[in-house]
Amino acid sequence: MTDLQFNRHRRLRGSANLRAMVRETSLHKEDFIYPIFVVEGENVKEEISSMPGVYHYSLDNLGAELDEVVELGIPSVILFGVPNEKDAVGSQAYHDHGITQEAIRFAKERHPDLVVIADTCLCQYTDHGHCGVIENGVILNDETLDLLARTAVSQAKAGADIIAPSNMMDGFVAAIRFGLDQAGFHNIPIMSYAVKYSSAYYGPFREAAHSTPQFGDRKTYQMDPANRLEALREAASDIEEGADYLIVKPALSYLDIVREVRDNYDLPIVAYNVSGEYAMVKAAALNGWVDEKQIVLETLLSMKRAGADIILTYHAKDAARWLEGK
Ligand code: PBG
Ligand code: ZN
Repeated sequence: MTDLQFNRHRRLRGSANLRAMVRETSLHKEDFIYPIFVVEGENVKEEISSMPGVYHYSLDNLGAELDEVVELGIPSVILFGVPNEKDAVGSQAYHDHGITQEAIRFAKERHPDLVVIADTCLCQYTDHGHCGVIENGVILNDETLDLLARTAVSQAKAGADIIAPSNMMDGFVAAIRFGLDQAGFHNIPIMSYAVKYSSAYYGPFREAAHSTPQFGDRKTYQMDPANRLEALREAASDIEEGADYLIVKPALSYLDIVREVRDNYDLPIVAYNVSGEYAMVKAAALNGWVDEKQIVLETLLSMKRAGADIILTYHAKDAARWLEGK
């Protein structure tokens, strides 16, 4: 026994302070973006049934929610507007007084320093629920680009600090960059959903945003979950087209992709911890099957360890509180 040679890794784990000194990754409230769903009407604060703790807010109730985010020290929100009126071309998406534009205006007026991100897509606004315009059951690429650019410009006019296109048409970053620049918004960054898989993990979001496709699926524009190299091609085109941040979505089943993108490109990377990932953790926690606080912090930490700089998560408010020891 005395001659046995081996490494003693446990030497560095002996106490809380020893562990803290060699910790490689950490979570901060500044890492988070908090998503908020905004609806038309008055006096609405309705919990989304598959996302306990996440609500639909009408504008008159949005203030308190924003105040809470700011008080917790979370630097940024992403707004998802859910309009009453839908049509074939998603007109409400690029209406200067659409629900998303009004929510952006309200948020920036109340908290000028809060970074307000606009999700830029058409699916909440189209009656068929697809992310683009349709002809004979086909989602048209180039015809959709013009509408996306118009949407982004109207969101920027309303005061959005960052445009986050989630639509997965080819060329959407180029079209939006061109549109923003033409309108004088050279300094508004694009946070591209560059690597977005066609995923069952978006189920609860589609309930919340009323954006389930009325026919077919999103597989002709969102990515096949089996593909890794394709993620690098998607990221490369968005960088070429002028993206300022790259989102990888979903996060948990795709941490290998987060790492892959991190190792190949130097843009800030955002991991989107999506609705289905949130719903699974909440369901288990509400049943008492897992320790919610420990599970959430471990999960979010894993996204940082995989290489994400920023995490877009419905757990942001809870996590910020827990990190402050509250
Ligand atoms: C809209 C959009 C979706 C999500 C964000 N933006 C849904 C989809 O593409 O079907 C999903 C977010 C989540 O599940 O939390 N294009
Ligand atoms: Zn969409």
